[in-house]
Amino acid sequence: MLIKTKNLVKSYEREGVSHRVVDQVNFTMDSGEFVIVKGTSGSGKTTLLNLLSGILTPSGGSVFFEGNDLKKMDDRQLSEIRNHRISYIPQNDTLLSTLTLWDNLRLPFFLGKGGDLTVEELDERLERLLEEFGLSDRKGAYPKELSGGEIRRGLIIRSLALDPDLIIADEPTGSLDPVTTLTVMEKFRRISQKGIAVLAVSHQPETFPFGDRLYEMKEGRLLPAKVFTENRIRKD
Ligand SMILES: Nc1ncnc2c1ncn2[C@@H]1O[C@H](COP(=O)(O)OP(=O)(O)O)[C@@H](O)[C@H]1O
Ligand SMILES: [Mg+2]
Repeated sequence: MLIKTKNLVKSYEREGVSHRVVDQVNFTMDSGEFVIVKGTSGSGKTTLLNLLSGILTPSGGSVFFEGNDLKKMDDRQLSEIRNHRISYIPQNDTLLSTLTLWDNLRLPFFLGKGGDLTVEELDERLERLLEEFGLSDRKGAYPKELSGGEIRRGLIIRSLALDPDLIIADEPTGSLDPVTTLTVMEKFRRISQKGIAVLAVSHQPETFPFGDRLYEMKEGRLLPAKVFTENRIRKD
């Protein structure tokens, strides 16, 4: 079990009344699984992702990473998980406009997120990922010279470069055209087939069949919506 939640709750006060934005969520995910969460705006999806990645602390219940309760971890353990094990691509995340694609990709490393990785190893890995994502010839480009899809692929490369166990992506195809959306989903699918768990939020029905399991967030509840048995079989 890579990540698991038990009776997870997050509440916020609104006009003096407490509202459960995430309501008793019980959820597990294994390595190499690709899970998609759909749900209307305001249903609590982003809050759930923030809880899973340890950015928010629960009002109730727990998040376990490899069996360890995030709540019981000290700062060092938590930052190990947040910097090296989980890679989070927030909604509307983008590249820094003043840096080239290449420098954007190297940035997390220079911010100390590389762990034991040497800069040579990082560069070699980035070159390989750029090739795989069809961006080798765009290395020197600034974000304003890149398309939305190229930026999105850049963000995925950046999240993969540090070799995480879990990628969490909030609406990664939100502003992309249909063709680019499918390309990005196919990349996530390939990533999960390599053993990395991927959890993505998406509204777009055409993205759902790329996942192994689909959930729906409804007023803070996480409800199983569909299992794509075909994908699961194909992977085994
Ligand atoms: N920090 C906060 N304080 C108060 N209410 C919040 C906060 N963050 C989110 N909410 C509320 O929680 C609900 C769910 O938000 P969110 O998780 O962003 O939903 P989604 O990502 O599904 O659109 C919304 O009603 C939002 O206004
Ligand atoms: Mg959201």
